[in-house]
Amino acid sequence: MRILVLGRQGQVARALAAAAAASPPSLELTAAGRETADLMKPGAADRLIRDLRPACIINAAAFTAVDAAETQQEAALRLNAGMPGEAARAAAAVGAPFIHLSTDYVFDGSRQGAYREQDVPAPINAYGHTKLAGEEAVRAAGGASTILRVSWVYGPHGANFMHTMLRLAASRPAVSVVDDQIACPTPADEIARIVLALALAGAPGGLFHLAGPDPVNRADFARELFAAAAAADGPSADVQPVPSSAFPTPAVRPHNTALDSSALLAATGLAVEPRAISLARCMQQIAAAGWPA
Ligand SMILES: NC(=O)c1ccc[n+]([C@@H]2O[C@H](COP(=O)([O-])OP(=O)(O)OC[C@H]3O[C@@H](n4cnc5c(N)ncnc54)[C@H](OP(=O)(O)O)[C@@H]3O)[C@@H](O)[C@H]2O)c1
Repeated sequence: MRILVLGRQGQVARALAAAAAASPPSLELTAAGRETADLMKPGAADRLIRDLRPACIINAAAFTAVDAAETQQEAALRLNAGMPGEAARAAAAVGAPFIHLSTDYVFDGSRQGAYREQDVPAPINAYGHTKLAGEEAVRAAGGASTILRVSWVYGPHGANFMHTMLRLAASRPAVSVVDDQIACPTPADEIARIVLALALAGAPGGLFHLAGPDPVNRADFARELFAAAAAADGPSADVQPVPSSAFPTPAVRPHNTALDSSALLAATGLAVEPRAISLARCMQQIAAAGWPA
């Protein structure tokens, strides 16, 4: 089975390649990052898909810089909405299921409790607007598409909150972390495991939340990851909780974007493992590669 992944060096793209390498040899994964094709250019995704004619396409490419999206809205809209729409239309044309990754930031964060798929999106920043436009473009393509909303992606590779915390802890005894942003951190390798299982099963179609269990605020998440790092002889720091207003950013962040992923479990039997297990595995991998300085 030939799978095309849009994206190569990104957190999820790398995890997909690693998961595929550990899968049966009948699974052939081709990853297309910037060096293969500039997906920003109209027609590039379409050409890739029509040339390769894969059995399934997974879109792990996106404009993920939430603050930069505020000032680069055209580029963010192209990569997060125009490109996925074009790719989903090409997937439909070659008869391949299309799996697209979206975000918890399509919600405004005002809900008490976890968001379900039937809750109405209302993004409050440019990134969220472009990702919601991407969901709509993928659906409008009319093919067999599966949209998976993930949240606070972390893993041993790439720029993420975990790396920022570990880097800060390497040089200071305490860090200030916001405690009024809540979500369900989702490990990149768990996203990859579940997405690949869906791809191999033909993809269910529809919209699902695919996020880690147990919503947590950023300050408590930082405490959890420092405990996991310390257990692996890595850096840790005291966490001083502060409100988001202490760290003004160009893009406003929603307060609570916890995702309820029970519909995915009910439909497929697949769910993200407990966070303590993922954090321990990540820290082992980071320790093996060398702690950030
Ligand atoms: N990171 C998060 O916390 C988070 C939260 C919620 C949802 N998500 C969603 O999850 C998905 C995966 O996120 P991630 O964290 O893996 O993202 P990431 O690490 O930022 O990777 C982004 C990917 O997009 C590719 N890309 C960017 N511009 C490109 C261009 N012009 N041409 C070709 N490829 C380009 C990159 O290509 P290269 O391989 O060449 O670098 C990279 O593989 C995205 O849809 C994102 O919106 C992420």
